[in-house]
Amino acid sequence: MRRPLLIAPSILSADFARLGEEVQAVEAAGADWIHVDVMDGHFVPNITIGPDVVKALRRRAKKPLDVHLMISPADPYLEAFAAAGADHLIVHVEAGPHIHRSLQAVRALGKKAGVVLNPGTSETAIEHVIDLVDLILVMSVNPGFGGQAFIPDAVEKIRRLRVMAGARPIDIEVDGGITPETAPAVVAAGANVLVAGTAVFRGGNPEAYRSNIAALRNAAATARGEAA
Ligand code: DX5
Ligand code: ZN
Repeated sequence: MRRPLLIAPSILSADFARLGEEVQAVEAAGADWIHVDVMDGHFVPNITIGPDVVKALRRRAKKPLDVHLMISPADPYLEAFAAAGADHLIVHVEAGPHIHRSLQAVRALGKKAGVVLNPGTSETAIEHVIDLVDLILVMSVNPGFGGQAFIPDAVEKIRRLRVMAGARPIDIEVDGGITPETAPAVVAAGANVLVAGTAVFRGGNPEAYRSNIAALRNAAATARGEAA
């Protein structure tokens, strides 16, 4: 059974002074998940948000909070993000030496467990944890900033991961440089969740968000041979 197509706007490109309203606006505009980029200035060269902001967003958002942890180490913070209301906790395989422990900890907290691969990391790095994950996030840029160019190598990596996932109910999500132009190839390769920051928030108003999300969904649905 093919996984449903989902759009996950990355709030990294939202107006941080109006984050609650921005989340509500993209939800009204058709977002399926809200992608939250957590950065520590150590694993990635940027600093963003922590559990307190996730907690505040949880009170405003209706959709699942898809929390992408670009932090190292991640394990000491899993409980705080879970308590704050994260629905999915996604840990980088490069962020620590004990990925099984991290994923088991996420599941023990009752959250959906995700693993994420940097562009330079082979899919073989996660083959031994495939039964511990609910989702796999493939980075199609080096994490740290929005607005970077899509790295095309992600397409073949997604194709190999979809084969590796087999019949397991695993979502394959892709993050970085996703636009109506790049979405068709990743979706055709087997990704079913599209993260997009710049391509959703460009225009800066709710009407723009609606047409931006529709453009992504249309391009992706067409590549899947579905009506949007
Ligand atoms: C990059 C983040 C992304 C980022 C994507 O480090 O993980 O989620 O917001 O932004 P765009 O869609 O602009 O490439
Ligand atoms: Zn992200």
